Amino acid sequence: MTGRNKYAIIVAAGSGTRMGGTTPKQFLEIDGKPILRHTIERFLALPYPVGIIVVINDEHKDWWKKYCVESEFLERYAIPSGGITRFHSVANALQYLPDDTVVAVHDGVRPFVTPEFLEEMFRAGEELGNAVPAVPPVETVREVTGGPESYVLRRDDIRLVQTPQVFRSEVLKAAYRLPYDPAFTDDASVVEAAGYRINLVPGLRHNDKITTPEDLEIARLRLAL
Ligand code: C5P
Repeated sequence: MTGRNKYAIIVAAGSGTRMGGTTPKQFLEIDGKPILRHTIERFLALPYPVGIIVVINDEHKDWWKKYCVESEFLERYAIPSGGITRFHSVANALQYLPDDTVVAVHDGVRPFVTPEFLEEMFRAGEELGNAVPAVPPVETVREVTGGPESYVLRRDDIRLVQTPQVFRSEVLKAAYRLPYDPAFTDDASVVEAAGYRINLVPGLRHNDKITTPEDLEIARLRLAL
């Protein structure tokens, strides 16, 4: 592998309120390991080194550090504190990102990403400056208005956006100098607001984000295979 050094910012500081319960979903165990570990292991499986930056809330840091020591997992990594939104969590992570690198920002609750897909994404992000994976919806999509009306959208015009989203470090750092906007629900929305054209690349169909208790049940079956 030639080119820039590779980094992963893995955001795992959400409270996971849609899951119910008190333990955030990224720390729930499947097949004897926290979901977050499954996710990080996908990056460690690449044929070249990837610097790992894991964003965790102060409340859960001690638990995570203890887990890593006791299970001899991940000896060298940065562990910035989570922020109030995902935007603030990524912003906190950027101080640990060296310049002239390429970085994948990935949700800690997406453990189904494959090393092959990560390699493709790193390649595209480094070449294009930004690469954002997206898939067409399989379902029909309607726009709701808050009133009784709803409108069907042209499915061919819709894409569902995933992570990892990969950027040259200077692109992501420049974008995150913007002030927070509630419309920033992923990194591409921030980079776009900073004036860059987003490069969509084909996503990975089953790269699901574990969000609800039902997702967790399905994840148990898939990760135990
Ligand atoms: O809330 P949402 O499902 O969009 O979260 C996506 C990812 O962002 C999750 O991995 C979550 O842990 C992370 N996150 C974070 N800091 C926050 C909110 C979400 O790291 N304040």
